[in-house]
Amino acid sequence: MLTKLKIRSMKNQDVSQVLSIEKDAFPNLFPSTNFRTEIYRKISNCLIAEIPKDFLLNTSTFPYRNGYTGQETGDSFIIGYSVTWEIADETHIISIGVRRRYLRRGIGEKIISKIISNSIKKSSQSITLEVRPSNNAAIKLYEKFDFKVVGKRHRYYSDNLEDALIMTLNIQNKN
Ligand SMILES: CC(C)(COP(=O)(O)OP(=O)(O)OC[C@H]1O[C@@H](n2cnc3c(N)ncnc32)[C@H](O)[C@@H]1OP(=O)(O)O)[C@@H](O)C(=O)NCCC(=O)NCCS
Repeated sequence: MLTKLKIRSMKNQDVSQVLSIEKDAFPNLFPSTNFRTEIYRKISNCLIAEIPKDFLLNTSTFPYRNGYTGQETGDSFIIGYSVTWEIADETHIISIGVRRRYLRRGIGEKIISKIISNSIKKSSQSITLEVRPSNNAAIKLYEKFDFKVVGKRHRYYSDNLEDALIMTLNIQNKN
């Protein structure tokens, strides 16, 4: 499946699928991200991961909303997304998510690789993000790319007042 995976910039017509992925990946997030605004925000870079329709798993078995995927007839099938912001010489990962039925298939890894290569092209010095200490899957993903914990934001998450770990990848030597 991964050989058929394509990472590209998010377009307006992708937003309904991306919203369904965000709801899947962050069930407690409210309100949803305004991806239509993000697409046009100057500092924002929105990516999606898509696969050809023949590789679609049976969506009726999707755990979220009886298999609702947000996909319209004719659209490719989107299985992951990310939003990053470029601020000064730093890339900030705002959000990354993969559809639940497609987890642990290397999609997150492909998206992070693309974020890193885009950041190198833009001469960013580092990539930074916040992550919940309880989010083992995400922490392991970032560690795989050599992101290091560089600090903590106290009571950062408003839903349960969990602290955030700040993780950074220094990319200035990768140019
Ligand atoms: C974090 C997330 C994007 C990872 O996506 P994914 O496509 O499943 O990740 P990959 O298959 O590319 O995994 C890459 C590596 O991440 C780590 N990893 C991913 N999921 C993991 C899990 N459940 N447990 C432990 N390690 C995990 C592993 O090191 C894995 O490499 P391996 O498969 O060779 O062991 C996905 O779990 C997700 O969407 N989570 C909900 C949203 C979220 O928490 N986003 C991050 C907010 S900071």
